[in-house]
Amino acid sequence: MPDSTLFTADTIFTSGGDGRFRRGESLKKAVMFSPGGLLVKDGYIVEAGDPETISAENPGVKTEDFPGQSIVPGLVDPHTHPIFGGSRLEEMILKTRGATYLEIQSSGGGIAFTTMASRESDDEMLLRSAEKVLSRMVRNGVTSLEAKSGYGLSLHEELRQLRLLNRLKSETFLDMAVTCLGAHLVPPEYRDRRSEFLDMITGELLPAAAEEKLADYADVFCDEGAFTIEESRKVLSAAKKLGMKLKIHAEEFAHTGGAVMAAQMGASSADHLLRITDEDIDKFVITGAVAVLLPLTALFLGGKEFPPARKLIDKGAVVALGSDYNAGSCFSESLPAAMSLGSLVMKMEPEEVIHAATINAAYSCGLDDRTGSLEPGKQADFLVLETGDPREWPYHPGTNLVSKVFKKGHPVWSQEDPEIFNL
Ligand code: NIG
Ligand code: FE
Repeated sequence: MPDSTLFTADTIFTSGGDGRFRRGESLKKAVMFSPGGLLVKDGYIVEAGDPETISAENPGVKTEDFPGQSIVPGLVDPHTHPIFGGSRLEEMILKTRGATYLEIQSSGGGIAFTTMASRESDDEMLLRSAEKVLSRMVRNGVTSLEAKSGYGLSLHEELRQLRLLNRLKSETFLDMAVTCLGAHLVPPEYRDRRSEFLDMITGELLPAAAEEKLADYADVFCDEGAFTIEESRKVLSAAKKLGMKLKIHAEEFAHTGGAVMAAQMGASSADHLLRITDEDIDKFVITGAVAVLLPLTALFLGGKEFPPARKLIDKGAVVALGSDYNAGSCFSESLPAAMSLGSLVMKMEPEEVIHAATINAAYSCGLDDRTGSLEPGKQADFLVLETGDPREWPYHPGTNLVSKVFKKGHPVWSQEDPEIFNL
């Protein structure tokens, strides 16, 4: 006997119905049904739409009602750095007192500090701390994510982090895309041997990661204080030759042209983009790469400058929103908080932020074949929100409106019964 359930609520927001991603007018246009129903069979979606029609077509089907609430797709966080050791609390306090991210980085703090602390942490410590992070993300509505290495910065330590990420991928219910970010920063021991470090990344780390199938994507931090555009091109070319998909951190502190360079090489996404120029936006849009915007990191940098979401959207870019959860430049596991900044600061409409954190986010990390929208054939990864109108979601910054989280049709977290949570 197949296990079918019809979940009903005041509204269902499907994020679906327009191909693999949404942009331009389709980013703004939601497919919503009020009342809304989601028919799920054996963990997969059979139909999303009007509940009366669905129950008439499926007489006797078991029903679960969420009156006064809404059903939305599980969020996909397309940019996270969840695996690391140590704490950068002291640095955060220094920043509160006026120090800048780049000042802290150049005095040996930042990524280099977290790298040392991560190398000193054993596998269990790294896994336990990442699990805590992932469970906080789930409570905030995330059911799938992209996760990067990048706090190992040696052949051995980067491979260790990638293997641990793959363990989390196989041992939890979360769908995960794994990214090798060995080119996150030149570590102190290679300070005067930059080209040797790059040779290690391109000649040893990426080939080993590809050979062992440890990473879907390769990423590079192309920015002031990290890697130049030429160095970044080398990393991405090597990864591309190995058959890996590409991502780039670019235009966060300085305009380098890295976003367009990577997009023209076929990168799936360019992330951050605070300093992308108008001219570069035009070149970027043509490539079809996703602009992954990370407004919480912009907030951590002081909140004076945010990525030009409106310009990107109005010019036709495929825009996604991510948390950029990491050890120091953004310490928030809440993708809904990024959605709030998307609406309140970057002036994205509520339909746009929901699409950006669901279908477009899934597309940017290659998970759109199974999740990111509530459409027939996809996994029943969905959330129940404590509002009858999901468009209210971004207007509740700091409040968790998620009351239930379902993965493949099964409840994995609920506000009333947090005990059922089992990562
Ligand atoms: O995405 N920009 C580069 N990497 C991270 C920061 C990592 C860190 O500060 O530890 C980011 O913001
Ligand atoms: Fe990042």
